[in-house]
Amino acid sequence: MRIWPICLALFAALHCAECKFDIEKGGLRIKLPASAAAEHSGGFEIALGNFGSPRYGGELLAKMVYVDPEAGYPSQCFPEACNYACEPFSEASPPVDLHSPDGPVILMVDRGPQDSPRGACKFAKKVWNAQQAGAAGVLVVNYEDHLTTMEAPKDADGQDEDTSYKFLKNITIPAAFIGKSNGDIMKDLLKRGEQVHAIFDWKDVLPKRSLVSWEFWTNSNDQCGPICDVQKEFIKEFVPVAHELEHGNWTRFTPHFILWICPISDRNTPECSSQCIHQGRYCSPDPDGDLHDGYTGKEVVQENLRQLCVYKLGNDSGRPWVWWEYVTKFAVQCSMDSSLYSQECAEQVWDDIGANSWSSRDALHECIGDIDADTRNEIFENEMDLQKGDSQTGEVYILPTIRINGGQYRGKLAYTEVLRALCAAFEDEQKQPPPVCLKVADDSCRPGSLGDAMCSRNIESGLTQCSNTFNGYTCTCGPGFLSTGLMDSNGYEICAKISTKTGMPTYAVILIVAGAIGIVAAACYAAYRLRIRSAMHQEIRDIMAQYMPLEDNEGGTLDPNAASRRPGQVHSQADSQA
Ligand SMILES: *[C@@H]1O[C@H](CO)[C@@H](O)[C@H](O)[C@H]1NC(C)=O
Ligand SMILES: *[C@@H]1O[C@H](CO)[C@@H](O)[C@H](O)[C@H]1NC(C)=O
Ligand SMILES: *[C@@H]1O[C@H](CO)[C@@H](O)[C@H](O)[C@H]1NC(C)=O
Repeated sequence: MRIWPICLALFAALHCAECKFDIEKGGLRIKLPASAAAEHSGGFEIALGNFGSPRYGGELLAKMVYVDPEAGYPSQCFPEACNYACEPFSEASPPVDLHSPDGPVILMVDRGPQDSPRGACKFAKKVWNAQQAGAAGVLVVNYEDHLTTMEAPKDADGQDEDTSYKFLKNITIPAAFIGKSNGDIMKDLLKRGEQVHAIFDWKDVLPKRSLVSWEFWTNSNDQCGPICDVQKEFIKEFVPVAHELEHGNWTRFTPHFILWICPISDRNTPECSSQCIHQGRYCSPDPDGDLHDGYTGKEVVQENLRQLCVYKLGNDSGRPWVWWEYVTKFAVQCSMDSSLYSQECAEQVWDDIGANSWSSRDALHECIGDIDADTRNEIFENEMDLQKGDSQTGEVYILPTIRINGGQYRGKLAYTEVLRALCAAFEDEQKQPPPVCLKVADDSCRPGSLGDAMCSRNIESGLTQCSNTFNGYTCTCGPGFLSTGLMDSNGYEICAKISTKTGMPTYAVILIVAGAIGIVAAACYAAYRLRIRSAMHQEIRDIMAQYMPLEDNEGGTLDPNAASRRPGQVHSQADSQA
């Protein structure tokens, strides 16, 4: 017997009217033409897609392209017009190639088509087609003034051509969504033959804190197809980082589980008994959708509770990271596929991670309590409250969800993307982000890059060495120079030239260096954020100079705090259908 209709009803029960669904927003600003940049200096709100690779903490300056005969692209696509991006652009006539020697391209595509007999094509499909054609980002334009979170298709495991979204994992470009009137402003400029350049901005999407708190909303069901596989893969890859971030007091992580409930009138039905604990109060849908076969929702919700207890007991004894150890081991040893998803196996994992040295099985049992009791369970009640969020924090509505400092992460569930988002959530001026963040930073110093070019210019000052920082680069003392440990008024190191006669720095310099290394380290970190900002601006200006008529060189401001980029809250739904 299929029980999905009940599940959906349960789910809806939690999606209450007073709760808010967060649409996480980034910003988009026109950079060129300068007149349009000035007219729309506040920028536009864009809703981040929940797939692909958003560049949290960063920006992307790119040329806007709209494949439409009126906007200078005569290509024809079939059966839908090219502006919908429903077909591979390589099949358009003439084919569309967005690789450009002038720099990156953001492709504007339209949502829909609404009236096509074939139905609208999926957002993810449009983005994939754009990526294949060479776009560095995609901006989907709505047919009305309303923002929605673009979701990945739910049926991503479909076997036939039309429902197979195996490419989802391979989407490496960011995707965002914009309301019709704002999109039309840029389309109109393109149709008038203007070159439009815009900046996608992910700098301030998430709230920032010096101690980043983050939540992972998941489910211990491991048989939900590609979504579960992606979660398992993510957890496995993320364990060492999660460990490092918790150990180093960089982050406070908490695991959470989405719960379903049974309507009171249905609590005695077989559906509720087999999918719920505490007499219908806390449920999870049957993993295989068959009440009479395989694992039950009740077993899943029970394991969810156990995992919350593992976290709680670990955290209480100063080991907030044990949940990660437990779940990775559990995924390997107790999978549903191997028919080992059980209490017995779970407790073996508990023993294996050495939990009895700081807690006990009895404590675990006590935390879980009597799951058949006709009582509330405080741990789960708390989960439900957190899931609903409050006036500051949006409801968790998509499984899985990551909340960072109360804001919701949007993008694919993958190591690099999530780590980038976490790194971007550290307060700017207070603290250097954790060292692991450099792993996901752009290489701003690669040969030929702007960082490389800018630093190599500083021959006089000796600041010729380019070093990557989380979202930019900084120039430090290069070959032939040593840091004196002192900083100039712009926060740059002051370098001392190594004497060419002896090939050695003077004695005085060595002393200063030895004495000041600690101060330098501290001062550098305090100053570097500021410098990155200006470096980024300089970088953008330099890139812009390649496109811009000279008189516009200083035109337009690059205010990182431009309005309308705070995460806002709009009551709406996520949508995978274009
Ligand atoms: C996705 O990438 C993997 C590895 O790079 C590749 O093997 C696979 O064919 C790609 N899938 C699609 C649909 O392009
Ligand atoms: C993290 O904080 C705890 C208490 O807040 C402290 O005992 C521990 O030493 C800190 N660890 C590190 C690596 O700073
Ligand atoms: C985890 O432990 C810390 C201190 O040990 C405490 O402040 C915090 O509230 C705990 N978190 C949870 C979710 O129990």
